[in-house]
Amino acid sequence: MKRFIHLTYFIFILFILNIPSIENVDRSNFKTCEQSSFCRRQRKYKPDISPYEIDLNSTKIIKNGHLRFLLLNTLKSHIKFKLEIFTLEHNSLRIKINELNPIRKRYEVKYSLVGELKLVNMNITKSDEKQIEVNFGERTKFLLNAKPFRLDLFTNDIFVMSVNSNNMFNFEYYRKKPESNKTATNNNNEDGMWEETFKNHHDSKPYGPSSIGVDVNFLNFENVYGIPEHADAFSLRSTHDSDPYRLFNVDVFEYDILNPMALYGSVPYMLAHNEHTTVGFFWLNSAEGWIDVNYNKLSLKNFFSTNTNFFATQSNTKNNEIPEVTTHWMFESGIFDGFFFMGPTPRDIFKQYTVITGSVPLPPLWAIAYHQCRWNYIDEDDVRNVLNGFEHHRIPLDVIWLDIEHTNGKRYFTWDISKFPNPEKLQDDIAIYRRKIITVSDPHIKKDDGYQIYNEAKTRGYFVKTKDGQDYEGSCWPGSSMWLEFFNPDIFKWYSQRYLFENYKGTTGNLFLWNDMNEPSVFNGPEITFPKDIVHYGGWEDREVHNLYGMLHHMSTFQGLLNRSNGHIRPFILTRSFFAGSQRTAAIWTGDNSAQWSHLKITIPMLLSLSITGFGFSGADVGGFFNNPDPKLLVRWYQMAAYQPFYREHAHIDTARREPWLFGDDNTRLIRQAIEQRYSYLPYWYTLFYKQERQGIPPMLPLWANFPKDKKIFKSEDSFMIGNGLLVYPVIEADINQISVYFPGENTVWYDIQTYTQYNGSETVLINVDMESIPVYQLGGVIIPRRLRKRRSSMIALHDPITLVVALDRNYEAKGELYMDDGYTYDYRRKRELIYRRFTFKNNELRSTSLDTTAKFHTDAWIERIIILGYPENPSRVIINSGDKQATPLHNYQEASHTLIIRRPGPSVTSDWTLSIS
Ligand code: NOJ
Repeated sequence: MKRFIHLTYFIFILFILNIPSIENVDRSNFKTCEQSSFCRRQRKYKPDISPYEIDLNSTKIIKNGHLRFLLLNTLKSHIKFKLEIFTLEHNSLRIKINELNPIRKRYEVKYSLVGELKLVNMNITKSDEKQIEVNFGERTKFLLNAKPFRLDLFTNDIFVMSVNSNNMFNFEYYRKKPESNKTATNNNNEDGMWEETFKNHHDSKPYGPSSIGVDVNFLNFENVYGIPEHADAFSLRSTHDSDPYRLFNVDVFEYDILNPMALYGSVPYMLAHNEHTTVGFFWLNSAEGWIDVNYNKLSLKNFFSTNTNFFATQSNTKNNEIPEVTTHWMFESGIFDGFFFMGPTPRDIFKQYTVITGSVPLPPLWAIAYHQCRWNYIDEDDVRNVLNGFEHHRIPLDVIWLDIEHTNGKRYFTWDISKFPNPEKLQDDIAIYRRKIITVSDPHIKKDDGYQIYNEAKTRGYFVKTKDGQDYEGSCWPGSSMWLEFFNPDIFKWYSQRYLFENYKGTTGNLFLWNDMNEPSVFNGPEITFPKDIVHYGGWEDREVHNLYGMLHHMSTFQGLLNRSNGHIRPFILTRSFFAGSQRTAAIWTGDNSAQWSHLKITIPMLLSLSITGFGFSGADVGGFFNNPDPKLLVRWYQMAAYQPFYREHAHIDTARREPWLFGDDNTRLIRQAIEQRYSYLPYWYTLFYKQERQGIPPMLPLWANFPKDKKIFKSEDSFMIGNGLLVYPVIEADINQISVYFPGENTVWYDIQTYTQYNGSETVLINVDMESIPVYQLGGVIIPRRLRKRRSSMIALHDPITLVVALDRNYEAKGELYMDDGYTYDYRRKRELIYRRFTFKNNELRSTSLDTTAKFHTDAWIERIIILGYPENPSRVIINSGDKQATPLHNYQEASHTLIIRRPGPSVTSDWTLSIS
């Protein structure tokens, strides 16, 4: 086995010395729960009875929808907590618990929430000294038990979630440092409460212990999902025999898969799904977190007898036992700020979470097309040659990327003019085919008096400070570096202004941004990041706000990009680090994966976990960042990622070049075909992204989001859906010539998108595959808009004609939508310049109507083809009526596949029309 060596720091040294990199994560660089004292303390906290009690005589109705109580720890009765309950619109509930009079203010995250949350009325249906019962929303209610404190939640009268039913609520209040600990050594430092050392890094912990633990349990569920980012299964695995899942933004070099270790981003949000209900729990906390997950059977006999009637209605109560997922959440600091989303459907859950934290805004069209990246395209000639390669090989492309080497010595906002002497001309040339360029801009600033950004930030005191008030200095790509203090609004603003054309010289309106290393990555820091006792703006320790740093970095960049066009043009930013709410301003990718089949495979659960927790615009490096993929792996990766939201090829500086045409003609053709498929579905993708902005539904979905009752797919992670129309079963094994495809849903019918072969729902079929195959199926009942003309870039194809693929269900019906706008500005919001059409097929008629009659957008796009799948017979006549015009377009019927193709029916996509078949 190869030697374990730490990495990001090491790679930096290797990079300088030009020694090839080493494989495998060095786990010793990152804490285990045992090595993190608060996790250790919380994990072993298991009292028989919870000492926390609510004084129900203290109940205060602050206003309708907002209650307040006093919560006491009966073992330490002088410590009082306030517990607040808010009933929110869309079947959601918020519970906040904080110390009543803390000796130090506890941190509350504000950046994740979108504005004021709307309260809805609550109806107190029962209240005595033991319990209060409250109805809210649509058939949702909670029961608050006083002694001990416990909260039970019900959707449609079914018991779904409970808090502290396993007595693990444990709130470490701020306290004075005991005299004996004032000169703390490891002997009198009670289990790491007042200081802690990891490797050679000392954490001074000036405020002592402040962690919070709580159990949140999901009744009658057998699967929980979410809490990204982990390279792990989609249905979360039991942590009984491992560490808990960790949430702490760090740069993990060559991460392992199937591992609960932390990665670059954190979203403390978990969903549970069964055939009746989908629910969610989100703990808004930006400190380091750990989450245990266990799957149990709960005996009803021993369980809270007054509630047993709520189980009577449930189906799964054989032997008086129901399945339960118990989860134990532990955060180092902050407050308990829990949101409970009561569903009941998957779509409700997506809405409920994104109403609170925001949805992914509609990206520019080009951003969901194909991107070509590499660390690094060396100079202008290299970039031009790569672009020529795309021309020569007729492969569509929208964006080319420049990694850190394009700068002058890793001084962001500069160019290495020996390699990029004329960057504006380069960008203008790239723009000829409406393509874009993206440059990287990391948050570390090279310590160099000759670097203007450094000087200005230094003079103004804009760098993050140590606990002693000095500028914090660490090491990153440029060597000695400092980090900007984005928590300070002035610095946030100042940084955003660095992106103005006058400050970021050599850039044009065709340039967009990539924010990397923003966990932040500090090569010589503890766990490759900031020390926890660093003091941020407002006096907050990094311990309290750590997971927000990356989000503030890319939020400031977003503001910067907006400023470049006075708010006219939609920004695009890719970020590596993220937190709940990051989805409002950036797309994300899964960081430094590897060219291995196992990494190709894990991409699906990783992206699904991100999708359902708000990050509908995410992707993974195609081909794998580290190492060289063999051509088969590369082709399979291109094929799979053609159906994932963010589609970018990227590779490490030490890897061999891998532009699509470097692997022989056959592979070039296969890659071209995969990318062409992506482009042909862009009208569908774009429509789904628009729906995501409006309704929070991510484009890439687990199968259960569309077939919530089909129990066979609750753990599926070898397949996924795009919208409700496309089922994707990518080939993710090396040498196979068959894959097993399960078609979800009863009474459904599915069509192979290439051959139009039909398959029945609820059946598993062995499908033959070769290197050409990308097994994708369209659901009968769904109409999908496509663009089949081959073009160089998505923006060039903006007004190209549309093909409608109408896949009929068993009743010979189908429906679908098409959204269009200019593809890059905010005019769709400000001037309502958009088209939003609905297509319905019923009773042998296909109709196009407007879903938004107040909107308008000028386009020459027209319907050039209609393909009807599953049409039973060859019709004698097809007539199309549009306004006062009538036409009889040619049609062709393929008996074997029951496919009716109508050629050049002709109406404009903007008009109402009806196609009648007889
Ligand atoms: C780390 C990023 O994850 C990777 O994508 C990038 O190429 C390198 N930093 C260099 O910027």
